[in-house]
Amino acid sequence: MQNSEVFILAIESSCDDTAAAVLHNDKVLSNVVANQLIHNQYGGVVPELASRAHQQNIVPVIDAALRKANVQKEQLSAIAFTQGPGLMGSLLVGTSFSKSLSLALNVPLIAVNHMHAHILAHFIDEEGYDKPEFPFLALTISGGHTQIVKVNSFFDMEIIGETTDDAVGEAFDKSAKILGLPYPGGPLIDKYAKEGNPKAFAFTKPKVPGLDFSFSGLKTAILYFIQKNKQANPNFIEENLNDICASIQHTIIEILIDKLKLAVKETGITQIAIGGGVSANSGIRKRLTENQYGWKTFIPKFEYTTDNAAMIGIVGYQKYLSNRFETSAVVSKARIQF
Ligand code: KG4
Ligand code: ZN
Repeated sequence: MQNSEVFILAIESSCDDTAAAVLHNDKVLSNVVANQLIHNQYGGVVPELASRAHQQNIVPVIDAALRKANVQKEQLSAIAFTQGPGLMGSLLVGTSFSKSLSLALNVPLIAVNHMHAHILAHFIDEEGYDKPEFPFLALTISGGHTQIVKVNSFFDMEIIGETTDDAVGEAFDKSAKILGLPYPGGPLIDKYAKEGNPKAFAFTKPKVPGLDFSFSGLKTAILYFIQKNKQANPNFIEENLNDICASIQHTIIEILIDKLKLAVKETGITQIAIGGGVSANSGIRKRLTENQYGWKTFIPKFEYTTDNAAMIGIVGYQKYLSNRFETSAVVSKARIQF
């Protein structure tokens, strides 16, 4: 088959979203995600419930992706799937399904590292979207990840900074929980922050050497701050919600920007590509697009920044072009070498 005729079915099931996408070369024909709302009532992802929901969702989601793309399964050139990192029970659903389908259709099987996919999502061909050039820096920020990666080429990248405890999305969600907001609280903090004063309250930024991050201290500081103020005024949260959210968001953004500044200084690279659910945050987007520091920033379409299968498909396509295939002995990996 010629390279201009590559059709990839991509499957992502690393955490709590069951997703499938069909790509024609580097263009997305369909990108379907079934979110698992069941976790909202527990304030976080429950692994066993996630695996069960993947089992229920995977066939309808793949079916919908093929139908929307108007592609028959016999036309597929390869099956790409998320090998890890992620929750083992969740990964197993996508991996097993992908292995079976590749055997049944007699097409190659491609294993994709979920973190590489968040970064390479920038190479999905979209009209009007400028792709970064190698080398660039990728900031991956979500509920599960916080990393700065130096990306030298499609398959050569190195982590130069990462969180030593909570991910930045957890910092948003746990702060929101302290304020009594429902899970996931990140988008709500963003919403209230828009009406608030970011300088109303000062939270100390953690002192972490180099390019690594730490967010657990901030969460504790916020908890003590709220407890103390509620003792003096039981309505403290209600009366100051916008200002509290704006101040928390401001502190988190400053932590990220400080590390990016250092990464640019250390590497001399000024192209910054962001990915992960937290890149939906309006404060972060505003700060990065203001171009205060002379950086060129890349922010993909929202549906390609949160967990999705199109990003798995674009890595699948690149791997297909360089014949990086797996045998059916391939296994899911909860932790995976970057
Ligand atoms: O990438 P994602 O959908 O899933 C993974 O965690 O892999 O990211 C979800 C995270 C959650 O922590 C959520 O609160 C956060 O992204 N998030 C936001 C916003 N939208 C989503 N955080 C801050 N501001 C937002 N607008
Ligand atoms: Zn992710």
